[in-house]
Amino acid sequence: MDGESSGPGTGRTDRQHAEARFRAVVESSPYAILMADTAGKMIFANQQAEILFGYSQAELIGQSIDLLVPDRVRGRHSEYRREFEANPSTRPMGAGRDLYARRKDGTEIPVEIGLTTLKGPSGETLVLASIVDITRRKQAEQMIQEKESQLWQSQKLEAVGRLAGGVAHEINNILGVVMAMAETIRDGETRGDEAGIILNQAVKGSKIVKDLLVYSRPTSPALAEVRMDDIVQRAVRMAANDLHLRHIELKTDIAGSLPAISADADQIEQVLMNLIANARDAIPAGGTIEIRVEEKDFRIQTSVADRGTGIPPAAIDKIFDPFFSTKEEGKGTGLGLSVAAGIVKAHGGTIQAANRPGGGAVLTFHLPVSANRKTAGVEGSGSESPDRLPAGFRVLVVDDDEGLRESCVRAIESRGGRAVPAECVDEAVRCLDQETFEVVLCDYYMNRKYGMELYRYLTDQKRAEARHFILMTGLAPSSLEPSITVLTKPFRKAELIEALLRHARSG
Ligand SMILES: Nc1ncnc2c1ncn2[C@@H]1O[C@H](COP(=O)(O)OP(=O)(O)O)[C@@H](O)[C@H]1O
Ligand SMILES: [Mg+2]
Repeated sequence: MDGESSGPGTGRTDRQHAEARFRAVVESSPYAILMADTAGKMIFANQQAEILFGYSQAELIGQSIDLLVPDRVRGRHSEYRREFEANPSTRPMGAGRDLYARRKDGTEIPVEIGLTTLKGPSGETLVLASIVDITRRKQAEQMIQEKESQLWQSQKLEAVGRLAGGVAHEINNILGVVMAMAETIRDGETRGDEAGIILNQAVKGSKIVKDLLVYSRPTSPALAEVRMDDIVQRAVRMAANDLHLRHIELKTDIAGSLPAISADADQIEQVLMNLIANARDAIPAGGTIEIRVEEKDFRIQTSVADRGTGIPPAAIDKIFDPFFSTKEEGKGTGLGLSVAAGIVKAHGGTIQAANRPGGGAVLTFHLPVSANRKTAGVEGSGSESPDRLPAGFRVLVVDDDEGLRESCVRAIESRGGRAVPAECVDEAVRCLDQETFEVVLCDYYMNRKYGMELYRYLTDQKRAEARHFILMTGLAPSSLEPSITVLTKPFRKAELIEALLRHARSG
């Protein structure tokens, strides 16, 4: 290679030295090295090449490189060669593709080939190829692949076994209770509640079957305009008995005047039931499960929270996987969350799990608001900037907390509205005597007076503001007049403005 750079006047001895050095380098290489001219005729081969291909140097030199290329890939090989000639640079041949070479005995070996060009003695281009036999590496890779697929198979079998075990256990329990109750009735030893107990067990069994069915053949949801609050109430009624027996209280916090969603109510109810069941399992000694529903960015956000064990950090990435369960054998099927996630996804929604500060878990899913309502909202906001309140939009801000009152006032004024602050119900009433407002924004509880007193005043006085009453609260009672909007504390400025804008649009 030194010979390359030797300029005119370099003596013959130099050239010989250079060649000797080149040979030493090439022969000490662990790779097979071949040199060919651009026509593909081999002009040099090292000892490793002899070993690799089974030909002697004499047999190789003068032959076409095609001698070493298996027939079935010869076409592709000449393509690679043309590619390389068109754009010669030092690089692996056929990068990313499997290459094979043919030995003298006809066997094929997987190889990796590095290519580079050099100038020959009379300035002609030569191609230098270094070839390494990667049979061992291929074998190792294949072994790893086989092991992986074995592992996958055994995991699958384990999962199926686990599922069967879980289902069998749960169905057995159900059958046990049903049998006992039936015998009690037959033997005339009834205490009156047997039918209810049997019914509960049947409901439990049907839930398992439902999950299995969704899993075995996912059906696309039968969409209809439904309301999330209705679905939650249905789920609550379904779960009530079971939870009551386990000393679990179910609290709901449902925002007022929620827009409809386009969903399959039965399926969404199933999602809720699965989340409730998990929360229940996380608090074996009893406690509270909280369901919260609110509107966020044109989506209905529903969360089910408990103060139980929380999700083990190592499991948090896997809990939505089918068959994944941390519950003891025979307790869980590992289908609940995977079914829930499947249903939510089919509705164009998302679902997340998180542990709560202070303990417990919260599962939250979002469903898009029904398309009708969305377009209505967009049209209603007209062409002006969507986050500006209409000019002269007056809001009565009632809160005994000065900080909160002041920040609401600023938020409203920064978006072009006019805010009148009041620090208690009585002051609010005085303000209402002076003027009318587009919206009354009122704290839930102030100085031993509830914001609802102000709402009642508005309805009693038949004031238009009664239809535009926003209650700010951390946890609202579930039995609120549907015309009241709930703004859950703490809220972002954007959420406040969005709530006000919704009233502005509804007129
Ligand atoms: N509220 C929760 N608190 C703690 N862990 C939970 C909760 N919800 C789900 N998990 C975890 O997620 C896993 C998967 O839940 P799921 O798919 O419903 O299956 P299963 O309830 O049959 O175990 C549970 O085994 C549990 O580890
Ligand atoms: Mg479950």
